[in-house]
Amino acid sequence: MNLQLTRFVSATSYPALSQTGFVLCSRSRFLFGVSPITTTSTDVAYQAPISPDTTTTYGVDQVLTSCPESNTLLDICYDWDRVPVPSSLKEFEKRWSNRHTPIDYSGVWRFRELFPFAPEEKIVTIGEGQTKLQQANVAAKFAGINAGNLYLQYEGLNPSGSFKDNGMTAASTHANMVGAKVTACASTGNTSASLAIYASVTGLFRCVVFIGSGKIAYGKLSQALDYGAATIQIEGDFDDALLRVREVCEQENIYLCNSVNPFRLEGQKSIMYRVLESLQWEIPDWIVVPGGNLGNSSAFGKAFMELKQLGLIDRIPRLAVINAQGANTLYQLYEEGGLRWNDGRPDVVKSDTFYTDMDEQNRRASTLASAIEINRPVNLMKCLRALDVCDGVVREVNDEQILDAKATVGAGGLGCEPASGASLAGAKLLREEGVIAPSDRVVCILTGHQLKDPTATVGYHTFNAKDKENALVKRGITQAQFTNRPTPVPNDLEEILKVVRGL
Ligand SMILES: Cc1ncc(COP(=O)(O)O)c(C=O)c1O
Repeated sequence: MNLQLTRFVSATSYPALSQTGFVLCSRSRFLFGVSPITTTSTDVAYQAPISPDTTTTYGVDQVLTSCPESNTLLDICYDWDRVPVPSSLKEFEKRWSNRHTPIDYSGVWRFRELFPFAPEEKIVTIGEGQTKLQQANVAAKFAGINAGNLYLQYEGLNPSGSFKDNGMTAASTHANMVGAKVTACASTGNTSASLAIYASVTGLFRCVVFIGSGKIAYGKLSQALDYGAATIQIEGDFDDALLRVREVCEQENIYLCNSVNPFRLEGQKSIMYRVLESLQWEIPDWIVVPGGNLGNSSAFGKAFMELKQLGLIDRIPRLAVINAQGANTLYQLYEEGGLRWNDGRPDVVKSDTFYTDMDEQNRRASTLASAIEINRPVNLMKCLRALDVCDGVVREVNDEQILDAKATVGAGGLGCEPASGASLAGAKLLREEGVIAPSDRVVCILTGHQLKDPTATVGYHTFNAKDKENALVKRGITQAQFTNRPTPVPNDLEEILKVVRGL
């Protein structure tokens, strides 16, 4: 495939702003009704390293995935004094009546005053974020939480079938701002599907996706292929693919859309805005989310930190990040190793040593929840900050727990892919440990659609421990508690009726 590579052009000139780090400025109040929402624009936004030891800031017209000076991750920061943020989150509901306007229809951009980095005319949206918070009593019973208190946030209802669209609309917008013509990502599957759909629907840029060999669920691979993405399958896993795509993007000036891109996480904050909106702006006790590259958890922490500092919420929910046992770097570092944010100065020797040992012992992530099969979560440091802000905990669950939870979600709701099952499995574990109380209000984030990974689902429901061909048996699963087996019947009406009548 012939990719036309185009050098980036700066779309805006950018006035230098002083660094405020994560401590937000005080700001004057605006009401949607009193002072009409003005165009969100780039002159109130800038990029700053998450490290408190570096004060250099960068304009939002720059394409960066880390601070060139300190090499740490970057945040998008705002001069809130100059942003017309509403005085109450309820004000955002007014946008519901304006659904013919794409940026008001979008479940991401209708909260755009909470991440005002883009001029409205540059916003790229394909109608993402029409997702649902479902009160889920079958799942509540499974987890041991009181009926009515457990909610599932279905991010699988996004256009590409996963939460990634929340972030990709923001990254695509930034790509559009800087005039990028080629974009790329490494992916366990959902990022590639999401980037590919934005490229194909908008036609604004080409995209090239890097995936690990044999490491991607078919539903996701089929999306990237169908949407016309240039798909590069490299020998290795996600971490290898990410390393390579970063090198390629650097050398060829391609716009990188992985979650090291700080603009992506700005869009992912909106998942929390929609959760709060669905709860009529009440704050739940817990947000439970699967942890892979830790973009979501990082974005959620930033969302709550900002809402609290803006005076838009009065308390912050607790955050539980759930690793797969076979890909448990965060769990190991946070719960076992005691690594903490430590006011922006985490003990990096701990994480460096962990990674050195991982490499020396050739330990590689391995889980059926392929979306979170990640060794080196790139947003580790931002996630530590989120855990600090949200008084968070980290847990690991095994593949069997993940798939039982996934089957429970499917039996009582809209279904999800394996990685998403980790959140309900994690909620159950935390309930058993007494960390979550039965009366707590708990929101589990379902990150991907049920149809993403049919192999895992069919493998579960046809589970037979003796069947060496079963996808799960091959992965070492020994039992499946909630199977719904298909019944084989001869093609004979009487035989079929016998079965139907016996149901
Ligand atoms: C379905 C699904 N769940 C969870 C994750 C992990 O999300 P994060 O990298 O934000 O931790 C991914 C990432 O690919 C995913 O596709």
